Amino acid sequence: MKALKVGVIGCGSIAQYRHLPEYAFNQHVELVAVCDINEERAKKVAVKYGVKAFTSYVELLQSGEVEAISVCTPNYLHAPISIAALQAGVHVLCEKPMATSKEEAEKMIEVAKQSGKKLMIAHNQRFVKSHQKARQLIESGEIGKIYSFRTTFGHVGPEDWSVEGKGGWFFQKEKAFIGAIGDLGVHKTDLLRYLLGEEFIEVGAFVETSARDFIDVDDNAVCVLKTESGIIGTLAASWAYVVKKITLPLFMVRKQYFV
Ligand SMILES: NC(=O)c1ccc[n+]([C@@H]2O[C@H](COP(=O)([O-])OP(=O)(O)OC[C@H]3O[C@@H](n4cnc5c(N)ncnc54)[C@H](O)[C@@H]3O)[C@@H](O)[C@H]2O)c1
Repeated sequence: MKALKVGVIGCGSIAQYRHLPEYAFNQHVELVAVCDINEERAKKVAVKYGVKAFTSYVELLQSGEVEAISVCTPNYLHAPISIAALQAGVHVLCEKPMATSKEEAEKMIEVAKQSGKKLMIAHNQRFVKSHQKARQLIESGEIGKIYSFRTTFGHVGPEDWSVEGKGGWFFQKEKAFIGAIGDLGVHKTDLLRYLLGEEFIEVGAFVETSARDFIDVDDNAVCVLKTESGIIGTLAASWAYVVKKITLPLFMVRKQYFV
């Protein structure tokens, strides 16, 4: 089988932790190009993977080098880059959250349909074996009718994760649009839709900025949700967890391998 020529746009943490090494490891894929507005980062990553570096995603798409891309940029660029790629006849794997508005998300789907190319959002929780088993148990009726759910996802926040650190885009409303609820809550919302096989029809929420005074997005949120058939539950998302630094050596140790 011919390997699919792939490019990665945005060479920050998720690209360096997951997309790039996974593509490099996958025999069905040939990593051919990377792109980042930070030229130094783009070049270092390109050298590491032996691929071409771009600083403009438009130029990468126009180069004709790629058949598929990963979109690993700040949230506000997910829709414009995905749409440009689909219009250029390139398949898209776009990081979550899908977009910063319903209109943008609908446009992405419409353009994907018109182009005949694949648009996939990186809701990786669907690929966890235990989640797949849970879905099967629910779908088959083996565990009976579901009445309610509780889900929560939290950590200390993206300061130690993002290549941009404490002053980075994750905390800026115009680039991130939403905070913990969009970063972490969206994973659980998608997982519940997958597990229950239903859409949510009602939601109520408290979305707060509790643990930081230097950001203009939320870092602590609790929602109450109801599905089409009346399954009700709670979803909490937080960047306000407090842990001892000693629990973080994985980031610290691994970070030295990244550029
Ligand atoms: N699926 C998951 O579990 C998961 C996990 C972490 C992050 N993410 C998502 O991945 C995306 C990126 O997050 P991250 O943690 O890698 O952020 P990051 O801050 O570490 O990296 C973002 C990168 O995008 C680059 N960039 C900014 N504007 C650009 C442009 N116009 N063209 C090209 N590159 C540009 C920055 O220079 C930076 O290198 C976010 O949307 C985030 O929500 C998903």
